[in-house]
Amino acid sequence: MNKLNLLFLVFVFFLLACNGSEKKAEKKSVDRIEMSAVNIEKGGELYRAKCMNCHMQKGEGIAKFYPPLANSDYLKENTNEAIRMVKFGSNKPIKVNGEKYNSLMPSSGLTDKELVLVFNYILNSWGNDYGQISIEEVEAVKR
Ligand code: HEC
Repeated sequence: MNKLNLLFLVFVFFLLACNGSEKKAEKKSVDRIEMSAVNIEKGGELYRAKCMNCHMQKGEGIAKFYPPLANSDYLKENTNEAIRMVKFGSNKPIKVNGEKYNSLMPSSGLTDKELVLVFNYILNSWGNDYGQISIEEVEAVKR
């Protein structure tokens, strides 16, 4: 192999290496789920399809059976526990705004990404101003 060929090979490897790291960076930004209007709307769609039957249109719930999400002290103060409940289902006794609830919420069957979307929707709807969560936080929630 002459010198020129060798130089060319090194150059090609260099290009490939750069390309690889660029791809990784791209994937990371795809995993990040921004709080954009589009994503809030996606969260709203998931909410209407998967949660509204019980928690109702304005997140008001149904007294004594299904706790409210709108203005919920539980959701505000125990966001991580709330994620666990929606991810895996729950029927333990809890108190929301001073009222006891102990009915069953089945596991949502949503992916971690969908959970981020639906949570960022309920955390910021009906007057709630409870911040946002990331995919890493949802992934870290285990049974
Ligand atoms: C079949 C009815 C039902 C469905 C559907 C349902 N939930 Fe629930 N949810 C409940 C019940 C019942 C509880 C209380 C569970 C307990 O006592 O362990 C609850 C509790 C919660 C809580 C914590 C308490 C609070 O009010 O802050 C959150 C947050 C929540 N649900 C969000 C959701 C989301 C998001 C969805 C849709 C992905 C959903 N739920 C779908 C019935 C339901």
